[in-house]
Amino acid sequence: MLYGVVLAGGTGTRLWPLSRAGHPKFLHPLTGTEASLLQATVDRLDTLTSPDRVFVVTGVAHAAAVSRQLAAMPEENVLVEPSPRDSCAAIALAAAVIARRDPDAIMGSFASDHLIADKEAFADVIRSAMKGAQQGLLMTLGITPTRPETGYGYLQCGDAVGDGPLMKVEEFKEKPTYDVAEGYVKSGTYLWNAGMFVWRADAFLAELHRQQPQLAAGINRIAQAWGTAEQEEVMGDVWPTLPKISVDYAVMEGAAAVGRVGTVPGDFGWNDVGDFHTLGEVLTADQAGNVVVGRGGAPEQLPTVLLRETQGLVVVPSSGRLVAAMGVRDLVIVDTPDAVLVCPRERAQEVKQLVDHLKELG
Ligand code: GDD
Ligand code: MG
Repeated sequence: MLYGVVLAGGTGTRLWPLSRAGHPKFLHPLTGTEASLLQATVDRLDTLTSPDRVFVVTGVAHAAAVSRQLAAMPEENVLVEPSPRDSCAAIALAAAVIARRDPDAIMGSFASDHLIADKEAFADVIRSAMKGAQQGLLMTLGITPTRPETGYGYLQCGDAVGDGPLMKVEEFKEKPTYDVAEGYVKSGTYLWNAGMFVWRADAFLAELHRQQPQLAAGINRIAQAWGTAEQEEVMGDVWPTLPKISVDYAVMEGAAAVGRVGTVPGDFGWNDVGDFHTLGEVLTADQAGNVVVGRGGAPEQLPTVLLRETQGLVVVPSSGRLVAAMGVRDLVIVDTPDAVLVCPRERAQEVKQLVDHLKELG
């Protein structure tokens, strides 16, 4: 049976001002359902594992909110980071805690902020990935690319493993430049890395040790103190010294280079809802293509949104105020109690730069 690890760490900067440091993307119900993205991620694992085998790794600022949203989760399964050290440290901590409990454990690491439309197809893909993990491979989930997205990792597919659908990954390239990504997409031999991984915890820790000895040594010290009276002290001493690097750069690129990465191509309605434009694309729009986020995308029924002769808008009414728009098209309009964002839909990616600029201003 699988151990599930859910990473609840990033702030989802491109979804500002809806997603904030204090209330990040994964705590929001973005799709108009009651469940937050985090809750949906945990629910999605229910046919693959049992609740006591699901862990969440999150920052100290969000631990209380995470526990509140996941009332059925044992308290000790919420692994709390004193500060964000990116995904490699978060995954390594979970892998070490799980490997101590079960040396043969197979674990899946899942982002807490992705949408997955087809839960059954997803579970089938994970079951296939577990077969590759059993053979010692670090398994990825591969998504057929539709554009030269530079924010993703790319997997160059090689030979089939067994009867398929598993394949070896010849190359793992995290966040290529636009030109390189364009070449990959045209070649037809690359898949997007979905950012979810399945492996034997010990196989991952061995690769971590080989490629990131300092991180591995720190995690090892933490794991030894885990659950003892020293846990907090060791965590406080060691955690801030761990290299801040994502698992893609830290482990996956180098593991693929020595033939230790596999993939299962999956078509389960995956979307990482990174920005308001993509969010608008996955929700149901009205006839003119307007989407109202957070209410199931049905603008006409909403007293808080009034749209006249608009087209292709993504509207996020989240202040309780009335948002009215007339005669405009292809805009993002986000209304929150203390900040309003208006920008063209096609520039939704650049919200990240806007937030960086805001941070500079203090
Ligand atoms: N707990 C914890 N602590 N989680 C973290 C931290 C951290 O410090 N940093 C990142 N995470 C979590 C995020 O919450 C997210 O669930 C996951 O790790 C991936 O981090 P992102 O920052 O969202 O990575 P990315 O989107 O740039 O790239 C990854 O995902 C893409 C698909 O969406 C990579 O795996 C890419 O290769 C992949 O294509
Ligand atoms: Mg992401």
